[in-house]
Amino acid sequence: MTDLFFNPLEEGYCANPFPHLAEMRELLPVQQTLVGPWALFRHADIVSLLRDPSLSVNPELVDNRDNEREQMFREIFGDQLPEPSTSILNVDPPDHTRLRRLVSKAFTPRSIEKLRPMIQDMVDAQLDKMAAAGTADVVDELAFSLPFDVINEMLGMPEGNSDELRGWGEALVRTLDPIIDEQMMRDAVVATVAMDSHIDGVIEWKRANPGDDLLTALIDAEEDGDRLSSAELRDQVTLLFIAGHETTVNLIGTGIYELYRNPEQMARWRDDDSLGPNAVDELLRYVSPVQFSRRISTAEISFGGIDIPNHAVVLAGLASANRDPEFWGDDADDLDLSRANAAQHMSFGNGIHYCLGASLAKMEAQVAIGSFIQRFPNATPAAEPVWNGRINLRGLEKLPLKLD
Ligand code: HEM
Repeated sequence: MTDLFFNPLEEGYCANPFPHLAEMRELLPVQQTLVGPWALFRHADIVSLLRDPSLSVNPELVDNRDNEREQMFREIFGDQLPEPSTSILNVDPPDHTRLRRLVSKAFTPRSIEKLRPMIQDMVDAQLDKMAAAGTADVVDELAFSLPFDVINEMLGMPEGNSDELRGWGEALVRTLDPIIDEQMMRDAVVATVAMDSHIDGVIEWKRANPGDDLLTALIDAEEDGDRLSSAELRDQVTLLFIAGHETTVNLIGTGIYELYRNPEQMARWRDDDSLGPNAVDELLRYVSPVQFSRRISTAEISFGGIDIPNHAVVLAGLASANRDPEFWGDDADDLDLSRANAAQHMSFGNGIHYCLGASLAKMEAQVAIGSFIQRFPNATPAAEPVWNGRINLRGLEKLPLKLD
């Protein structure tokens, strides 16, 4: 019976979650998982969940009685629970509307487009280094380093210890997985405290050293006399910093991996550069760099005749929606860079929390992947790729390639 339920701990899940997600879509597309949260796997259900304004993202509304993870959190920390983040990913309207307006103001399409030449220069410099070495771990040297450097540059972060920041980021995003153990939770809290104090220090430094950057714009952001409080400012900066690199790494790294596994598709993009934007949308659909998002019910809701109670955590299976043949047709599991409706993927979510960095992520991927496949059409594996073992921000940890 337990085989029927969602089990991301199944052997081989991270390397290829899609057969298991297909089974869930077939057998139990609306289910309460064995660890407490509910989960939806069908495209249509997920769209209606994410567009339903009655749903919340406020973790304080969760009924913890049958939620193992929340209970563990409370057992570890007792009364010393850290304050929940006020980032836009964690708050409902009207606060969400107010904060998102302020953050988007500093995040305009024009300011994103201005970054294109800098991104191309960063990619070319990395590709030169990789070519000179003859082999490379594409994740470390391109897929991770590019979005990390870009968001640092955009925010105008001071030079600092990037290994430390990288470690905190990794610990923090683990909490986005539906199943985590006690050590991961402890590591995430230590990382939150360290990251908060680091970002507070950076904001102080930036107040004294303003520049033409996103962080200065956020500090100055004001609308109708409304400003971000200092905790709100810190939480938005942390979100932008983490969301800016921990997701895009999976699109670039796993995207390149999938193209080398589908050489005829890669050749199409290489031969026709105008395919780039659609190719990136199709890779977003195929790879799903963020596999789940979550909502909290504020009333009983029903999907496919199954009732989900009030105050329940509901996971929206974005990766499953991206492969649902009911929506995409029988070739949903094929990579087709000219798929006509590729842009309708769910990888950036839907509704009011739709990804704020979508156009930046797409531009980074187009430049990085497009330039990589032009430069190294005959790359071959130098060793087995290594998966990162994450359930939600699933991707490659290492992709060693020989670059002939
Ligand atoms: C391939 C890369 C990326 C993917 C797949 C991705 C995915 C997502 C998803 C699924 C959400 C919605 C979560 C939900 O509904 O609960 C989201 C929200 C968000 N993303 Fe991204 N993201 C990516 C890159 C970025 C980048 C580069 C940035 C910023 C520099 C960014 C900033 C944000 C922010 C601020 C939100 C919160 C929006 C809100 O709550 O209103 N993301 N992203």
